[in-house]
Amino acid sequence: MKLAVLGATGRTGILVVREALARGHEVTAVVRNPDKLTDKHDNLQVVAADIFDSSSMVPHFKGRDAVLSCLGCGPSFLSMRKVTFFTDLIRPMVDAMREVKVTRLVFMSSWYTKYNSADPFIVNWVLKPLLLGQSLHNKAEMEDFLETDCLDIRYTLVRPPQLTDSEPTGKPVLCMEGQSIKSAERKRFTCCRKDVAKFMIDITEKDEHIQKSMAIASG
Ligand SMILES: NC(=O)c1ccc[n+]([C@@H]2O[C@H](COP(=O)([O-])OP(=O)(O)OC[C@H]3O[C@@H](n4cnc5c(N)ncnc54)[C@H](OP(=O)(O)O)[C@@H]3O)[C@@H](O)[C@H]2O)c1
Repeated sequence: MKLAVLGATGRTGILVVREALARGHEVTAVVRNPDKLTDKHDNLQVVAADIFDSSSMVPHFKGRDAVLSCLGCGPSFLSMRKVTFFTDLIRPMVDAMREVKVTRLVFMSSWYTKYNSADPFIVNWVLKPLLLGQSLHNKAEMEDFLETDCLDIRYTLVRPPQLTDSEPTGKPVLCMEGQSIKSAERKRFTCCRKDVAKFMIDITEKDEHIQKSMAIASG
């Protein structure tokens, strides 16, 4: 397959690039600073583009089978900084896809983007107010846009919990539709980035979980 990967210089994005290349796919890494991506491969093209400008992405999406995003903007300490990163980027991304008739999008989001009173106390009353609230809220707005305004886009939202750089356990990645996996149904509250990368490439190859939000965790 021919894949465009955004956020390819990030800690998960580079693993998505490597996993795709290892499986024989052609990858266009769409980044803001090409010097940062030093991996070399015959099937890897690294291009610069502005993720907030659809016309800048159009030439790099043209002829691709899917767009994969691992973009992220980091936490907002004490949730003071209003985050608009995800809503700012999703419209130009979808516009660029529509322009060149690419319909498949695999987008990395997070557990707990939306408020649910049944979620753990630590999430609703510690993590969100102190660190992740603005970012998660803006991801939820981005997800709402995909769910309501993008019925022509075959998107999958991939929702991991806390990410780690540890090696995969070798067990299958747990995956469940929704915004989290309940403690009784999982072993871990974490997902290693390699498992996320593997999952994203798996569902792209199999064309699975269309217009669904999939919570995942390492097995
Ligand atoms: N950390 C966690 O525990 C956790 C848990 C669940 C979900 N997530 C989410 O998973 C996603 C990936 O996480 P990660 O830790 O792999 O991310 P990361 O290492 O922080 O990488 C973020 C990527 O986004 C790119 N980016 C940021 N701002 C950009 C801009 N204005 N223009 C172009 N590119 C931009 C970065 O490019 P540069 O290299 O040029 O900066 C980088 O490639 C994020 O959405 C994150 O919120 C994280």
